[in-house]
Amino acid sequence: MRKAVIAANWKMHTVMGEARQLASEVVTEVKGVPVDVILCPPFTALATVASALAGSPIHLGAQNVHWEREGPFTGEISPPMLVDLGCTYVLVGHSERRQQWGEGDAEVARKVRASLAAGLTPIICVGEDWPERERGETQQKVASQVRASLDGLDAAEAARVIFAYEPVWAIGSGRHADGETAATVCGWIREEVAISHGDDVARRVRTLYGGSVKPDNIGDYARQPDVDGALVGGASLAATSFGAIVRGWAAEGRAQD
Ligand code: PGA
Repeated sequence: MRKAVIAANWKMHTVMGEARQLASEVVTEVKGVPVDVILCPPFTALATVASALAGSPIHLGAQNVHWEREGPFTGEISPPMLVDLGCTYVLVGHSERRQQWGEGDAEVARKVRASLAAGLTPIICVGEDWPERERGETQQKVASQVRASLDGLDAAEAARVIFAYEPVWAIGSGRHADGETAATVCGWIREEVAISHGDDVARRVRTLYGGSVKPDNIGDYARQPDVDGALVGGASLAATSFGAIVRGWAAEGRAQD
């Protein structure tokens, strides 16, 4: 029922030539693998990557968005601008934005609503930091982020979102939450969606894991029924490792649920 998603977050990496090359290599690497693959390059490489992906089933996503359609917001990029570039997905509330730019839950919720209204699928990042995990507050933290991000959405809208459980301590650190931990938290996300929007919506929402995903640990997540894919940072910057992750997922037979 839920199709697997593997999304690449290139963060602030790649100038246009590098992005074109990487995207073209990924097209070859993942050819024929029945998983939704999404590339999220920096804004400056979106047009270049869009043309490199033309004719392939790989989707284009952005790493951030503003909630207004247009106006006096110097330096911001709106949902219709992303759609115009060929984006169908957008990352919202990545922990680097929450931590380094102070993005709060209310801002995330506005971005989610604006993205959906423009026809984009938001990939909403949630997760606890290390002190919160140590204090046993993971469920509480993730549940409150999920609840806030779905504020004001009707059932049809809520069913379209994707959540990525990204424990802050696992991002770019080489430490990853194991498959069982990721599945437990994805289950909590689904429970929270069920409370706010009902069981049917909760069954349809896709939940990913992100944080130091590599070719050698992807199988651990693919074997968990509650984990529907992965959001990959560092390992998505080489087509060979990203390709190995996508194929590694499919090899576990979780490509098309
Ligand atoms: P990482 O990043 O795979 O490099 O840990 C994941 C992310 O930030 O989305």
